[in-house]
Amino acid sequence: MRRGAFAMPSGIYLDGNSLGVMPHAAHARVQERLEQWQRHAALGWDDWFDLAESLSPAIARLVGARPHEVIATGSITANLHALLATLYRPEGQRRVIVATALDFPTDLYALESWAARGGGELRLVPSRDGQTLHPDDLHAALQGDVALALFPTVLYRSGQMLDVSGLTRAGQAAGALVGWDAAHSIGATTHEFHETGADFAVWCHYKYVNAGPGAPGGLFLHERWHHLTPGLPGWWGNDKSNQFEMTPRYRKAIGAGAYQTGTPSILALAALEGALSVFAGLEMAEVRQRSLELTDYLIALADRHLPEMRIVTPRPHAERGGHVSLSHPEARQLSAALRRLGVVPDYREPDILRLAPVALYTTPAELDEVVGMLRGLLDSGEHLRAQEAGQTETGGRVT
Ligand SMILES: Cc1ncc(COP(=O)(O)O)c(C=O)c1O
Repeated sequence: MRRGAFAMPSGIYLDGNSLGVMPHAAHARVQERLEQWQRHAALGWDDWFDLAESLSPAIARLVGARPHEVIATGSITANLHALLATLYRPEGQRRVIVATALDFPTDLYALESWAARGGGELRLVPSRDGQTLHPDDLHAALQGDVALALFPTVLYRSGQMLDVSGLTRAGQAAGALVGWDAAHSIGATTHEFHETGADFAVWCHYKYVNAGPGAPGGLFLHERWHHLTPGLPGWWGNDKSNQFEMTPRYRKAIGAGAYQTGTPSILALAALEGALSVFAGLEMAEVRQRSLELTDYLIALADRHLPEMRIVTPRPHAERGGHVSLSHPEARQLSAALRRLGVVPDYREPDILRLAPVALYTTPAELDEVVGMLRGLLDSGEHLRAQEAGQTETGGRVT
């Protein structure tokens, strides 16, 4: 859809659900901000002071929010802590935090620490098959003792998409606050966080938003909670109009901007600024449509040519995120062999090969080629011979 907007690495890149490729505009904006720094040093702050806030309208479009409900800041982990420090209010018997057994670990570390602090417990929705979550189990966890629930919009291993609006309603009906980790859906599909009434959400911008390694994260706080004082306040979350009066008294900014803490990285925000510009003029429904066409195509190819690989990503569109996960006992070796053939897939323990055809830059011809390579490897056993020769790579250090 926008392939020309990206500096595509050589070979075939199917790892955009881990780290998106670099948009030319990100490079250009970082370059510009570097030059501003070079020419103006501290005077650059005249321009940089509200850079994060200036990105909120573009981010709000991606997550279906009002601009003052979102801010680019922190990381998923830091933003979760900041939001929990504010929103998790255990009271009486209502102390439980709900999450799932298939969550990305950092979320669980953060949630567990707050549950322990609040004298509550972390209740994990179990998985029946180790890959996906059953709606009945998700709903069953939402009992009257739950203070707060956090769910992933899309599961990072299997690519299962959850029912954001149904679970938000069910959690809130049980008296809980409901938040979302949208790391694997932002930039790949539509969201309606404001309309569905989600209480809060966190995400990163380094996957389908393509804002670069360690890009600033993002958070959504529904406007119904904007009267609360952030539990982890800092001067960058102060009201911008009097931040530089340097008074000892904290006056929070109106809106999600209050959840910034310290000075933001302007160079990192510049990359995000460029990356967001690629989405200008694109409807997220079109992006989602293209993503579904690509994942449909990949699933059809895998059905036809790779019968020994099990597709663990759910097939119904409403239950599928932006990537397709294939399980096979030799997935690790297949992933390493693809890397040697110039393909960047992604491997998740113990047996998952994740392939992410990204709407903005992946072509169906690339999927044909990769499935052909996998067929060739499975037929020849080449991937196993390389292992005997000690040529495996883990590729493990990617998120
Ligand atoms: C679902 C999910 N949550 C959280 C993270 C990581 O969070 P952070 O941005 O704090 O490193 C990832 C990283 O891939 C992720 O996939």
